Amino acid sequence: MERPARNAVAASLAATGIRIAVWVLVTTLVSLSGASADPNTQTVEAQPVGARGTGTGRVSDRPEIPLGLDLYFPVPEGNPLSSETVALGRTLFFDPILSRDLRLACAGCHDPERAFTDGRALSVGVIGRVGTRSVPTLVNRAYGRSFFWDGRTSSLEDQVLLPIQDPMEMDMSLDDVVERLRRDPVYSERFLQRFGRIPTHVDLANALASYLRTILSGDAPIDRYMNGVRDALSTQARDGLRIFRERGNCTACHLGPTFTDERFHNTGVAWKYPPPAPHATSADEAGRLVDLGRFAVTGDDEDRGAFKTPTLRDVERTAPYMHDGSLATLADVIDFYDRGGNANPYRDPGIRPLDLSAEEKQALQTFLRSLSGNVSEGM
Ligand code: HEC
Ligand code: HEC
Repeated sequence: MERPARNAVAASLAATGIRIAVWVLVTTLVSLSGASADPNTQTVEAQPVGARGTGTGRVSDRPEIPLGLDLYFPVPEGNPLSSETVALGRTLFFDPILSRDLRLACAGCHDPERAFTDGRALSVGVIGRVGTRSVPTLVNRAYGRSFFWDGRTSSLEDQVLLPIQDPMEMDMSLDDVVERLRRDPVYSERFLQRFGRIPTHVDLANALASYLRTILSGDAPIDRYMNGVRDALSTQARDGLRIFRERGNCTACHLGPTFTDERFHNTGVAWKYPPPAPHATSADEAGRLVDLGRFAVTGDDEDRGAFKTPTLRDVERTAPYMHDGSLATLADVIDFYDRGGNANPYRDPGIRPLDLSAEEKQALQTFLRSLSGNVSEGM
């Protein structure tokens, strides 16, 4: 099941990519020729050659892509971006109407002030229900290939309906949430205007996913440095970058414009060891897997305790860290990697003791802070 779906997505992404490449070329030529950059004035001439003239090919319907991110901006064929859909999705994202007790919006857990995280170790849903995982950032998810720490959904359209239905998060049924939107005169009108019909869960998903795609973070010191502004990174941050690439082996997994390979690795976070007790038996010391991670999706033994590599953009603002929020600070994360993660039978071969000096750890931390950029959303 999974493979054909992915191929279809890949094919549509590739088609989109070609259109974007043409779009970039055309808009560059347009701006070189002195024409206005106002999207409304980019008319037929700016239409990409060979584009079908449907939603995804329309030049005005993209967020501005900040420095450092890929200009190849994937949008699925079935849910073209438009500013109205994004605006509707944005209203929904900040509206507690989607939760059972009418008190928790998506933004209640994904707070824009904290790069769309909540500052807690574990998420807290309706009526104080504490979940089992930490709230991930939502920046640059347009480029994501799978969603959730275990990657259990492969599109944002599929993803966004799950927190609404999760009893530990918003705890609504799709029927109930759609019913509420239908009873609301303002939403009924906006859905009608945008989608030509009364609210449905498909249109709700499309609107939320469209908004999420516009949440972008770039233009960080690292991006300016990579674009030739040498002073954008201090000497210490540059030392940190070298450790990140070389001794630390961080780029084995945290790479590319979003600093993630979008794959799943076992660093050992989910293997918990009891504190050494005076009379501990060897079984007590062996550790225990407390979250199956990717294994729950694939059933492959090597995926036991593997989680999706998170982006490191804005990492300074997304503490506490890891899928269970078990590491409070960046210094804790660096210490964790320095000792080679938590030993377990499935630990990724890329995780091994690093033996960094205090000075090197500090440099690495300074580098990680240089990944804080400008977070923009909407369009
Ligand atoms: C109770 C807090 C809470 C609420 C409310 C909430 N989320 Fe989340 N969100 C989480 C947690 C926790 C995860 C990670 C869960 C996991 O991986 O199992 C997550 C994951 C995600 C992801 C995946 C990100 C990635 O990189 O994999 C997206 C996208 C997302 N949420 C969007 C939304 C939207 C849209 C809403 C509103 C409809 C919403 N969330 C409401 C806590 C919340
Ligand atoms: C083998 C792949 C791999 C390597 C190598 C690796 N990471 Fe990670 N990184 C991950 C995965 C997977 C997670 C999430 C683990 C979890 O939550 O269980 C993660 C999580 C993190 C987080 C927490 C981010 C958050 O939002 O919670 C930081 C920070 C981080 N890594 C930095 C680094 C640094 C610095 C290095 C190099 C010293 C490094 N990583 C090396 C795969 C890797």
